[in-house]
Amino acid sequence: MNKKAGILGVGSYLPNKIVDNFYFEKIMDTSDEWIKTRTGISERRMVDENETTSDLSTKAALNAIKCANLTPQDIDLIIVATATPDMAFPSTACIVQENIGATHAAAFDISVACSGFIYGITIAKQFVETEMYKNILVIGAEALSRAVDYNDRSTAILFGDGAGAVVIGNVDEGGILSTYLGSDGKGKDVLTLPVGDSIKMSGSDVYKFAVRIMGEASLKALQMANLDATEIDCLIPHQANIRIIEASAKRLKLDMDKVYVNLNKYGNMSAASIPVALDEAYRQGKINKGDNVVLVGFGGGLTWGASVINWSIQGGKNE
Ligand code: ACO
Repeated sequence: MNKKAGILGVGSYLPNKIVDNFYFEKIMDTSDEWIKTRTGISERRMVDENETTSDLSTKAALNAIKCANLTPQDIDLIIVATATPDMAFPSTACIVQENIGATHAAAFDISVACSGFIYGITIAKQFVETEMYKNILVIGAEALSRAVDYNDRSTAILFGDGAGAVVIGNVDEGGILSTYLGSDGKGKDVLTLPVGDSIKMSGSDVYKFAVRIMGEASLKALQMANLDATEIDCLIPHQANIRIIEASAKRLKLDMDKVYVNLNKYGNMSAASIPVALDEAYRQGKINKGDNVVLVGFGGGLTWGASVINWSIQGGKNE
């Protein structure tokens, strides 16, 4: 019988510095009221001047490896999804490999903007199920505060920094039941981060696309897993805007108490949003063994992805 891939451990790390909406009131023409009403964001985390994406990744990775009861020596492959790598090369994944001492691991980065974590777990699933690798670290990490233009009020207020990670390996029960990925290069100009520049975005185009694709992608992944929306125990959406999340939940006819939201605290952390939310939901006891968890995201490219996971690990709340 084929090996089934699932999540063995999950972890995250957020920088200590908290930047609230009132900071932006001081530096641009905006207000706490506007930001909260239009986006749902109250504050976000920001790296300090010496902190990098690989630093955040390293801490999240060690937390996920510990949660999986493994050591860095057990890791065979490291995948980092990021739009804000420390450098074009070496990859952030190679830096993490050295930092944690994962001397047996191959390592590479992927560039899929906010959908990167779902692409990452999809790649990991293939390697585990073909038995090429046993334990794979997938990290979503961003230092987006370095990539925003503090003169552009329509984007600067949206983004934050952080990292989340999972270890993917063989599970006896449950596992990653399905993953669905999509891309549309015709939308390449809607959301961009040119090399050496800052994020540019046509907010309303991204908004319309996001509301449509979050529901569609979730339903597609559910269909691939032979489940329907009534069987979702927890939805972990990409954390871009509370209005996008609420509209997506409505399309899935899902109560908001089954949807995990933390963008009020962290803003949009691109590839880090989903794994950080997953880690928090697990630790708060909102995800338990046997639950059907749907991850869904969208981002620059345009890209999107969704995955249905039947949760395999105990614990969380009491850890
Ligand atoms: N403070 C005050 N006013 C503002 C601000 C601000 N920070 N930003 C924009 N405004 C103004 C605009 O200038 C506009 O003024 P005008 O009517 O005089 O021209 C007005 O507010 C309304 O602007 P809209 O763009 O229509 O506002 P909207 O309600 O659409 O909200 C937002 C904008 C929050 C950006 C929304 O469109 C959105 O969330 N879009 C999706 C963004 C997203 O998901 N991005 C992440 C993609 S993931 C990735 O890959 C990085």
